[in-house]
Order: sequence, then C-alpha cells, then structure tokens
Amino acid sequence: MQFANKVVLVTGSGNGIGRSIAKAFAREGAAVVIADINGDAAQSVSEEIIRSGGRAVSYAADVSSSEQVGKLFANVVREFGALDILINNVGSTIRKPIVAFSEEEWDFVLDTNIKSMFLCVKEAGPMMLGRQQGGGREHIVRSCAGRDQQTASLRDFQIGSREFYENACMRMGA
Ligand SMILES: NC(=O)c1ccc[n+]([C@@H]2O[C@H](COP(=O)([O-])OP(=O)(O)OC[C@H]3O[C@@H](n4cnc5c(N)ncnc54)[C@H](O)[C@@H]3O)[C@@H](O)[C@H]2O)c1
Repeated sequence: MQFANKVVLVTGSGNGIGRSIAKAFAREGAAVVIADINGDAAQSVSEEIIRSGGRAVSYAADVSSSEQVGKLFANVVREFGALDILINNVGSTIRKPIVAFSEEEWDFVLDTNIKSMFLCVKEAGPMMLGRQQGGGREHIVRSCAGRDQQTASLRDFQIGSREFYENACMRMGA
C-alpha cells in the first residue's frame, strides 16, 4: 500500500473529483480527512470508506473561511497529530463573460479558488514541513486542469491558482 501511515486531507471531497481522490488514497492505506462545506456529503464519503475497511474522518468546513479552516486543522491535529498530504481540490467558477460579473461573484470565485488554497497552505505548511524533517513526505496538489476559452475569467482564476501553488511550493522548499 503506497500511502500506509500517511494522513491526507482532501478539500471538497464530499463529491466529484475530491471524493474519488479521497477514496483512491484510502484504498492505498492512507487515513483520509474528508473536508467539505456540505457536512452530510462529507460524512457519507467517510462512512463509505470505513465500510470498505479504510480509515476516514469527516468535517464540515468552508475552506474559504479562515475561522473554519483553523477549526478544521485543529481537528486534524487532535485526531492524527499531523498531516502528510494536502489536496487543494475545492474550486469553482461562474461561466459568463468577465464584464457581466458582479463584485460579489468575483469575490466568491476568487475566495473559492485562491483564498481557500492560501488558508489551507498556511495551516498545513508548518505541519507538513515538520513531518518532512521527521522522515515524512510533503505534497501540495492543486487541480487546475480544464482551461476554458469561453470565459476569460476562468482562465484568470486558474492562472492565479497555478502562480500561488508554484510560489507556495518554492517558498516551502518543495
Ligand atoms: N469537473 C470537471 O470537469 C473539472 C475540470 C477541471 C478542473 N476541475 C476542478 O476540480 C475540482 C473539483 O471539481 P468537481 O467537478 O469535482 O466539483 P464538484 O462540484 O463535483 O464538487 C466540489 C465539492 O466541493 C465542495 N465545496 C464547494 N465549495 C466549498 C468550500 N468553499 N469549502 C469546502 N467545500 C466546498 C462541494 O460541496 C462539493 O462537494 C475543482 O477545483 C474544479 O475547478 C473540475
């Protein structure tokens, strides 16, 4: 099992790609933290993993809220003591031309795509660097596939995500 004894947190893993990523890590022996704004969906994924013989816990958390991210990582430390792998999966967009965006919509998409990564990396970074010194491995993964030429905005968000990810990795020595 490739990820036995590893603790993995997947944001937005109550559904979709995040759910599949979480289940794949669980199959490879990792203890998986299912974090999703939809607490019921998160719980159902963690129950599914446990029923299949894996290890998982679920937390309801909006990863664009610093308060909720702080609580989420405090729970991870309480439950597992540390974190090895963070999957920044949460992201969304509103498909319309950039000139039609309201300020609230713009803030929502930036918060969901980029602020969420900042908040999670800020909490996870020191934890994962500590594990690295102790022989653990450190990963930060961000989904930024699927450029869409129809909306200039989506491409902007993805470029922002990629820049943030690359900078964060560089500064953390990854
Ligand atoms: N589906 C695609 O074709 C596709 C293509 C390229 C990239 N992506 C990227 O992959 C990632 C996942 O996409 P998906 O299609 O699986 O999404 P999805 O909508 O199926 O699932 C997203 C999950 O994230 C949760 N979520 C949303 N906002 C949240 C928040 N603020 N805090 C915590 N949880 C939150 C939702 O409740 C949901 O469970 C996104 O970053 C998306 O941009 C998706």
